Amino acid sequence: MWFKIAEIIKNLQEKIDLERLPEHIAVIMDGNGRWAKHQNKPRVFGHRNGVKAVREVTEACAELGVKYLTLYAFSQENWNRPKLEVSALMGLLVDTLTKEMATLTKNDIKLEAIGNISQLPRSTYNALLKGIERTKSNSRMTLVLALNYSSRVEITRAAQAIAEDAKLGNVDISTLSEDTFSSYLETAAYPDPELLIRTSGEQRISNYLLWQIAYAELYFTQVFWPDFEREHLYEAIVDYQSRERRFGKTSEQLV
Ligand code: IPE
Ligand code: IPE
Ligand code: MG
Repeated sequence: MWFKIAEIIKNLQEKIDLERLPEHIAVIMDGNGRWAKHQNKPRVFGHRNGVKAVREVTEACAELGVKYLTLYAFSQENWNRPKLEVSALMGLLVDTLTKEMATLTKNDIKLEAIGNISQLPRSTYNALLKGIERTKSNSRMTLVLALNYSSRVEITRAAQAIAEDAKLGNVDISTLSEDTFSSYLETAAYPDPELLIRTSGEQRISNYLLWQIAYAELYFTQVFWPDFEREHLYEAIVDYQSRERRFGKTSEQLV
C-alpha cells in the first residue's frame, strides 16, 4: 500500500518540468470546518489537522524549488466567526509557529507575513515576529503567511500612501505606473503568483491578492485542506504546466 502511494507520488513528481515551475504559488487553504463536520468533530479539529497539510506543502514546494509560497491563513473577514473558533485559531497559530520552527530551519525557509498583523492578539503577533526574526537569513524559499489579510484594504492603503507621497512631491500622479503602484503593496518584494490553488471545491477568491493574481492560473480542487498532500500539490503543478499562458496573445503568437 505505502509502496503504491510512494510510486504514484514519484510518477507525478517526474511529470513536473523543473524548468517551468511557478516561481510563486498562492494557496487558499479551505475546507477545514467541513472536513471536521464530516467526522462529527468540532471545526477546530479540522484546523488542527490542517497544520500537517501546511507542513507537507511547504516542504514539497521548497524541495521542488518554488521560491515563494503564500498561504491564506486568516482573512480580515474571519474575525466574524464565533469567538471561540477565532481564539482557537489564534492559539493554534502560536503553537504551530513555535513547533514548526525546526521545519523552517531544516528546509532553509524564510518566514514573512502580509496583512494587518499588528491587530492580532499579542501572543500570536509575538510568535509571528519571533519566527520572522529567526528565519530572516534563510534563502531557499520564502513562506508568506496572509494573516488578518484583506486585499481591498491592502489596495486602499496603497492608494492612501501614494496620495501622501504625491502631496510630498515624491510621486508624480500623472505618470504613476503599475510597477510603482505594486511597490506600495505589501507584496512589493515578491513576484506575482503564477498559480493560485483553492481547496474544498469553492470557486471564489475571497478578497485574496486581487491585484497580484491578475494573470495567475486558477486551480480548484474538491479536496479539503486537511486531506491535501504532496501528490495534490504535484497534480496542481502538472495541471498548471499543461496550460497555455497566453497573456492576451493568440496561440500562434506563442510558438
Ligand atoms: C479554512 O477552512 C481555514 C480558515 C478559514 C481559517 P474553513 O474553516 O473555512 O473550513 P470550511 O470552509 O468552513 O469548511
Ligand atoms: C478564505 O476562506 C480565508 C482563508 C482560507 C483563511 P473562507 O472559508 O473564510 O472564505 P469564504 O468566506 O468561504 O469565502
Ligand atoms: Mg471556508
